[in-house]
Amino acid sequence: QEQSERESLFIALNFAKDFFVKNLRTDEGKSIGLSYFRERGFSPQIIEKFDLGYALDGWGHMLKAAKSAGFSEEILLKAGLILQKEGDPSRIYDRFRGRVTFTIHNVSGKPIGFGARILTKDKNQPKYINSPETPIYHKSDVLYGIYQAKKAIRDQDNCYLVEGYTDVVSMHLSGIENVVASSGTSLTEGQIKLIKRFTNQVTVLYDGDPAGIKASIRGIDLLLEGGLNVKAVVFPDGEDPDSFSRKVGSQAFQDYLKENSRDFIGFKIGLYQDEFARDPIRKAEVIREIVQSIGKIPDPIVRSVYAKEASGLLQIEEEIIHTELNKSLIKSN
Ligand code: UTP
Ligand code: MN
Ligand code: MN
Ligand code: MN
Ligand code: MN
Repeated sequence: QEQSERESLFIALNFAKDFFVKNLRTDEGKSIGLSYFRERGFSPQIIEKFDLGYALDGWGHMLKAAKSAGFSEEILLKAGLILQKEGDPSRIYDRFRGRVTFTIHNVSGKPIGFGARILTKDKNQPKYINSPETPIYHKSDVLYGIYQAKKAIRDQDNCYLVEGYTDVVSMHLSGIENVVASSGTSLTEGQIKLIKRFTNQVTVLYDGDPAGIKASIRGIDLLLEGGLNVKAVVFPDGEDPDSFSRKVGSQAFQDYLKENSRDFIGFKIGLYQDEFARDPIRKAEVIREIVQSIGKIPDPIVRSVYAKEASGLLQIEEEIIHTELNKSLIKSN
């Protein structure tokens, strides 16, 4: 019973993917969706690789096509493709309308959900509308791009972690394929487990804005706790991997990543360095923060390597770091 429902959901999601992809070739799709992707520099090959598509503007295009293909309203609702009107559940309508679509695949390449981007600058509507949780789409266990990235993650033994759909697509265009997105939500244990199937090294490339930096700091601690080796890169003010790679070009982008990858200690020191000189108390706070991060590392040998590095970079005795470390280790036990 449950198994056959999951099977039906996979079939419905695959139908929807094909429908959105096909819509991109209609007159409306070409003039609105395809031209939007082309303006962002997305090639026909990359559009195909990621199953990018277009949801026609209107209330019932998906509903009509899916019903003609034999899908029940019940399964379309469960799949998150259609919605019931609030207060009048007999009225149903398409969830995704007049937006370009990003197909979310599971690790074996089956479509399990969509993110859909608005094409206007309308501030009253969310920039992205995403599939809801369904029996086959658990957001906390999914990383956008994992299917297209998994081989490269293994080969490079590193996984770039970005915020957004377009960051993943743009990095492929820049020749970097070992990249996945947490899709704007904070990183989860399930997502970290998924990465660990392919590598033990993550490089965090979140947006160069206050929200992105805050999310990096949180994400780094979670990754350390998961036993991963973590690096991070900070982008210039307001840039994300998509905007920055288009601005400087593929080669300069790749060079930037190489030259600016820091381990988590270097990353944190870099963030606060300017404040140190002016404010020694601030420096003390940051040292405590860094020691707390080191304390999250499960492997005692790795922990001690980082303690030594922190002592050198922050110019404080290793002894003090170890004392602090022991305090926080006692606390967490
Ligand atoms: P961003 O606001 O950084 O968008 O959100 P972006 O990815 O750079 O998109 P562009 O370049 O403006 O097109 C990062 C991610 O957060 C999620 C999406 O997954 C997005 O890619 N998000 C953002 C949402 O789910 N809903 C939103 O309204 C905004
Ligand atoms: Mn489940
Ligand atoms: Mn952002
Ligand atoms: Mn962004
Ligand atoms: Mn962006």
